Amino acid sequence: MKIKLFGKQTGLPASQLILGAASFGSRRGYGAVVDDIPQILSAYVDSGGNFIDLADQYQLGEAEEIVGKYVAAMRNDFIICTKYTRSSETNPSPANFGNHRKTMRQSVEASLKRLKTDYIDIFMPHFDDGITPIEEVARGLEDLLQAGKILYTGLANFPAWKAAAIAKTIPLTALQIEYSLAQRTADRELMDMASYFGLGTMLYSPLAGGLLTGKYRRGASGRLTLSASATYHEDEATKTILDELETIAKEITVTPGQVALAWALTRDAFPIIGARTLNQLQESLKTVDIQLSAEQVSRLDIVSNIQLGYPHEILKTVQRHY
Ligand SMILES: NC(=O)c1ccc[n+]([C@@H]2O[C@H](COP(=O)([O-])OP(=O)(O)OC[C@H]3O[C@@H](n4cnc5c(N)ncnc54)[C@H](OP(=O)(O)O)[C@@H]3O)[C@@H](O)[C@H]2O)c1
Repeated sequence: MKIKLFGKQTGLPASQLILGAASFGSRRGYGAVVDDIPQILSAYVDSGGNFIDLADQYQLGEAEEIVGKYVAAMRNDFIICTKYTRSSETNPSPANFGNHRKTMRQSVEASLKRLKTDYIDIFMPHFDDGITPIEEVARGLEDLLQAGKILYTGLANFPAWKAAAIAKTIPLTALQIEYSLAQRTADRELMDMASYFGLGTMLYSPLAGGLLTGKYRRGASGRLTLSASATYHEDEATKTILDELETIAKEITVTPGQVALAWALTRDAFPIIGARTLNQLQESLKTVDIQLSAEQVSRLDIVSNIQLGYPHEILKTVQRHY
């Protein structure tokens, strides 16, 4: 696996694929078999991976506990990203939910404890809560930097204008967004914003929760049929994308899911791979050796293209004189 600098503002050498740990545990009733997780982590590490994505909410704190235990003896070899906002509880109380300073402080302390570490590499709110002023989020994150509890700040699921306003006031380093062939709305604002500020960009759900593996067409079950929180289904737009993925997969003798991940790797960003089993992880890791041709990338760009909307459509028509 290649190592790349994480964004343009850091000297942090990060593996090109991040391992997502949302399925690490059983407290939410659906996830990886707990005894298999050390093997999944070891396969990722053996392939050259050093970057793990977590949140306090993942399996209600269990994912951080499992990863904390695994990395304890080699903590400094890993880049650990974790998130707060929802706490590790099923139904957090109002004072323990959101992006305000109180949740931020109690969450960072709880994550440090579960992770068995005294610093978090990258820390971020899980989503914009729509209430906490961006100045409060920015100052709170900066204070955690000053206190040495975190090394880098980031934002997940924030509107571009708020992220830009925060990036103007504190050293913002990371952005985490949903991005895949089935979800390209970040092409409207977030991708350009991240590039302007040189943010390390982490792409989550690159397989659209497993939909882009094509397994549901083959009658298989998985998160999208078994978990209550499933969000994707095969509509007209994704049907065209899946057809193209299957065609390209046949051309180069790989799987549709591997083609979808190889496409995500063509962006200036770090896909976060989610694996519930060792086999799934092994399949995803092979993606780093897949070279799509420019023509194949272009076919996938076309079938997944979205309307950028106003004002981007106007800007495309502006006559250039230089
Ligand atoms: N910031 C956020 O709000 C946010 C949101 C979501 C995710 N994330 C992060 O991003 C990571 C990845 O997200 P994601 O899990 O949604 O990613 P994804 O790549 O879109 O979906 C991964 C899921 O697809 C299925 N899958 C993977 N490989 C497969 C294969 N070879 N064959 C068949 N099925 C396969 C598995 O689910 P099943 O086996 O259950 O079908 C797996 O858990 C998470 O772990 C988390 O770290 C962040």
